Amino acid sequence: MSAAVERRVEARVLTIRMRRPEKKNAITREMYRAMADALAAADADDGVAAIVFCGVPGAFSAGNDIADFVAIAESGALPAEVRDFLHALAGVQKPLIAAVDGLAVGIGTTLLMHCDLAYASPGSIFRTPFLDLGVTPEAASSLIGPRLMGHQQAFALLVLGETFGAARAREAGLITQVVEDPEAAAGDAARRLGEKPAEALRIARALLRGAPDEIAARIDLELRYFGERLRSDEAQAAFRAFLAR
Ligand code: COA
Repeated sequence: MSAAVERRVEARVLTIRMRRPEKKNAITREMYRAMADALAAADADDGVAAIVFCGVPGAFSAGNDIADFVAIAESGALPAEVRDFLHALAGVQKPLIAAVDGLAVGIGTTLLMHCDLAYASPGSIFRTPFLDLGVTPEAASSLIGPRLMGHQQAFALLVLGETFGAARAREAGLITQVVEDPEAAAGDAARRLGEKPAEALRIARALLRGAPDEIAARIDLELRYFGERLRSDEAQAAFRAFLAR
């Protein structure tokens, strides 16, 4: 388990906490691996009824680590950790709940599209600057985003790269509710789900989410484009500019 990802089970709720505050919870390959493993373990554990993702005060996540993007582009191969995490998100059978307090950038926002419930504090902001970085949407956001939010809000978020405040994210359908204490709200919802009959919950969730294969196929299609874009001059220039700030 990565030091920057904490895993704790309490009252049948697995909490996965990203904790890399000095980098605003930018996600490294090691963190993707730890989170993919945590999701797989939770799915296999009858003692876990629901899963809560959270970050640190002020930062849910600043998205993929940009230094890792550079290393990936140089190595030429997309790391298995990222793909495994995205597929775990799409395939996990236990309810996913997010508690966002602060920044949710890139995968920090697209991860929410896989959650069954998401709570955010009023000051939270959501942004996916894919195009400005010379890359393209990931995590099946090009499929789930328009379904959740409608084409135009999804386009404004994922392509135009507009920053959504908590109120707009709620109105658009990206999050469930704006609350002062998102972790308390997420924990409460998770415990209530844990009181439901487990098999009925599993079936109901699967019915509402639709075909996981379609989502998995979109993840792979997007990753193909993303991998090509990472190596582009546009993306390389954007990463260099960020790292040289
Ligand atoms: N990858 C790597 N490092 C990151 C990072 C990322 N995605 N996001 C933030 N960091 C680092 C910063 O480089 C900085 O490191 P340093 O103190 O060693 O210089 C530290 O985290 C704090 O970030 P800082 O930019 O000083 O905080 P801020 O509150 O002013 O701004 C953000 C926060 C998230 C708005 C800004 O850091 C940012 O735009 N990050 C990039 C987000 C991004 O494009 N993610 C990829 C999406 S696909």
